[in-house]
Amino acid sequence: MNRPYRWLAQYYDELFASFRGPMDAARERVLGAILPGVETACDLACGTGTTALALARRGIDMYAVDLSPSMRRLAREKAARDRLPLHVLRGDMRSFRLPEAVDLITCEFDALNHVPRRADLRRVAKAVARALRPGGHFFFDVNNSLGFERYWTGTVWFETPHVVVVMRSGHNRKADRAWCDIDLFIRDGRCWRRRRERVDEVCWDSGEMRRVFQESGFELLRGWDAAPFFKKDNPMIGLGCRTVYLARKKAA
Ligand SMILES: C[S@@+](CC[C@H](N)C(=O)[O-])C[C@H]1O[C@@H](n2cnc3c(N)ncnc32)[C@H](O)[C@@H]1O
Repeated sequence: MNRPYRWLAQYYDELFASFRGPMDAARERVLGAILPGVETACDLACGTGTTALALARRGIDMYAVDLSPSMRRLAREKAARDRLPLHVLRGDMRSFRLPEAVDLITCEFDALNHVPRRADLRRVAKAVARALRPGGHFFFDVNNSLGFERYWTGTVWFETPHVVVVMRSGHNRKADRAWCDIDLFIRDGRCWRRRRERVDEVCWDSGEMRRVFQESGFELLRGWDAAPFFKKDNPMIGLGCRTVYLARKKAA
């Protein structure tokens, strides 16, 4: 097993394309009125940089933070290809620091669930609070325990001409944890090379979320069920499976 998102990173945009439209729609709905006032922002756990670049395209001075070297490399390549300014930084969402306080932090596509321990939610909330200016916003989405039950179970596979990806998932209801063992069979001339990695997730209920964010210097403004955003592109995401949140750091 490797650290996650080493091999998967290369195929990430292709494999998870059906999540992009719904996440864009959720961001537009929740942040639509806030974005015109945003000058600096950070996309935390930025993956291949798609959201960071969408915000940079609007003229926002963007930071993009991720733990995976492969993801950061792809984000830098996409920024160079699109000729957009993007500060890509290595960072752990539990401890990252930015060179300046920003107006907005985004953390999309259940990246916040990707921490090893339940207690890490508080560490992330504190690190985000430190990186935001007073009154700044934190936009994020998370998988809920019903989401783990519904779609972190069984085996799914995807095939493209250059890779076959087999994802075997499971969850532990009592611990509110889920995992996905990913086998990638990557075409290399006449051979197929097999690579493995595991993604682990942990989830929290809305009460826990509210308490932790409040204690870390935020008001949790609102949560939206994500299902309506997914209805068209990915109807598998049912009601109660995923929530989109907006939190605001208290003014000084
Ligand atoms: C499901 S992907 C989401 C990527 C991106 N936010 C998007 O919307 O496509 C999860 C991302 O979280 C990153 N990640 C996982 N644990 C992390 C951590 N502790 N700190 C920073 N990034 C992390 C992974 O490298 C990966 O890029």
